[in-house]
Amino acid sequence: MALPDDFIYSLKQNNPIENVIGSYVSLKKQSRDYICLCPFHSEKTPSCHVHPSEGFFHCFGCGAGGDVITFIMKAENLQYIEAVKLLAERAGMPMPEDARNNDFSRQKARILEINRSAAKFFNKVLRKDPAGEKGRRYFQMRQLDPKTIIKYGLGYAPDSWHSLSEHLKTEGFTEDEMVAANLCGIGRNGGIYDQFRDRVMFPIIDLRGNVIAFGGRIIDGSGPKYLNSSDTPVFKKSRNLFSLNFAKNSDEKRLILAEGYMDVISINQAGFENVVATLGTALTPEQARLMSQYAEEVIISYDSDGAGQNATHKAINLLSEAGVRTKIIRMEGAKDPDEYIKKFGSLRFKQLLDNSDGAINFELAKCRNDIDMNTDQGRVEYLKKCADVLASITSPIERDVYISKVAKEQGVSREAVTQQVESIIRRRKNTASKQEWLNIRTFSSEYKNNPDAVKHPAEFKAECGIISFLYKNPDETDNISHRLAPECFINDFNRLVYQKIIEKIKNSADFDIMSLQSEFTADEMGKITAILAKSREIEINRSTAEDYINILLKSYSERTEQQPASDMSDDDFRNFARSMRNNK
Ligand code: CTP
Ligand code: MN
Repeated sequence: MALPDDFIYSLKQNNPIENVIGSYVSLKKQSRDYICLCPFHSEKTPSCHVHPSEGFFHCFGCGAGGDVITFIMKAENLQYIEAVKLLAERAGMPMPEDARNNDFSRQKARILEINRSAAKFFNKVLRKDPAGEKGRRYFQMRQLDPKTIIKYGLGYAPDSWHSLSEHLKTEGFTEDEMVAANLCGIGRNGGIYDQFRDRVMFPIIDLRGNVIAFGGRIIDGSGPKYLNSSDTPVFKKSRNLFSLNFAKNSDEKRLILAEGYMDVISINQAGFENVVATLGTALTPEQARLMSQYAEEVIISYDSDGAGQNATHKAINLLSEAGVRTKIIRMEGAKDPDEYIKKFGSLRFKQLLDNSDGAINFELAKCRNDIDMNTDQGRVEYLKKCADVLASITSPIERDVYISKVAKEQGVSREAVTQQVESIIRRRKNTASKQEWLNIRTFSSEYKNNPDAVKHPAEFKAECGIISFLYKNPDETDNISHRLAPECFINDFNRLVYQKIIEKIKNSADFDIMSLQSEFTADEMGKITAILAKSREIEINRSTAEDYINILLKSYSERTEQQPASDMSDDDFRNFARSMRNNK
């Protein structure tokens, strides 16, 4: 569905890209532009560039890029039209009439409805149905109160291939909707079957109270312990947290991060509302940022096994990158919080939380793993590992405190430890800037590795150059499109971009390359901004553009051994050439 160009134009005017991006990450001014840590991948040195005057951003690290609308699409996981709506709301602009309801929002609404129906069905089976006996016994064994079962809307999916789908059918949902919501799969014979069978069910609820997905735990038998909904139009597992709908209401400025659904529910039942978990994956940067909106401090309460400790290490890094202080509980005598609470009670768990240690002590303690501290060699190795940890502390005062602590503990001089730490810091600074370069290089080489770019480097460069030139000089479109037919482009994607630019410019008064938005996916917009970002390095003026045209025309005629597609007469051409010279 198309939105009027002038609407999109004022939408962008009213939502300056630097303000919008600036509300997600902190921007640093760099001449006319801004740089920031990329919100779409994890990094320590900023490689995301925001260009207010041109209205686009581009990350050299991960290749993300686009205009303010693409940004919102990516940041909020929205479709084009929804991102537009959000920005319109932000700017207090009414949406054009016909754009309010579209198919996609309707599909999303249907998926949310079907999920709610399914959750009610699973819950009812668990609470009342004879088929739910197995689930009831299971949760009883796990010591969940009936109140907790109601609070979390837990359920049981019967041991049947069709009981959910039959039920949903009676509620008026179509098979397509059941499949789109990931509640059903399509079998080899083309029929559908229930995805979740003989599992206790954990609905995943978002901040608005929508049921967006399910996790289902096996009770016995074989197969994966948990089955989780895969991503659907209403669910992205990397962006949501289990139980955040409850945790966000807690008055505490700290969150507890646990590993499993069962841990969260146990901890919550023990009286701690502020607990969340990821959804069957390791913590993501997006989730870390999400937590930072609700808490200043996160207490990581992962399992006490090796896997849990490694995950803790990663979570510490992600959370501190998101600006959150971390603490780690040290749990002895139980493998996870659920077991701990059952064994020792909620009071002891509260003490565990209150005595949780800072991330640095956790990392320092971890340095002892697999080291024989009774030998000199072992202690040297330990101290070197500690120096690595100490070098990561950004606050100089804090660093000093821990340097003293380690030195004292091992009976070595403070100076020696400090020296070691400082040399690591220097080395890292060097590699960090090298790494940034490498990112930029690998990114552009990724683009260069495009088979067309390898086979026809000159043409590929010319194609990108023409696109960039038109972007800055839309008034040249007529000139160029008359001489250079899209067929002259070798690379399919570049050709498509070129075609779309010509089309758009002809049909709209104030063209903006970012209005291509509606025609391309966010990833493709990233490719387009890569072209634009790259061309910022070289000045493309009319004479370079002229060279590019000639390269493409020549290559085309060589390929086809025909006259290039062109409807310019020799006279036209001479006039054009003259006008170019005059304008230089
Ligand atoms: N998980 C998963 N798929 C698996 C195993 C685990 O998605 N096959 C995810 C689930 O989100 C689970 C979390 O990893 O909640 C932690 O796993 P685990 O500790 O094994 O599960 P718990 O929820 O703690 O369940 P239980 O106490 O019943 O073992
Ligand atoms: Mn567990």
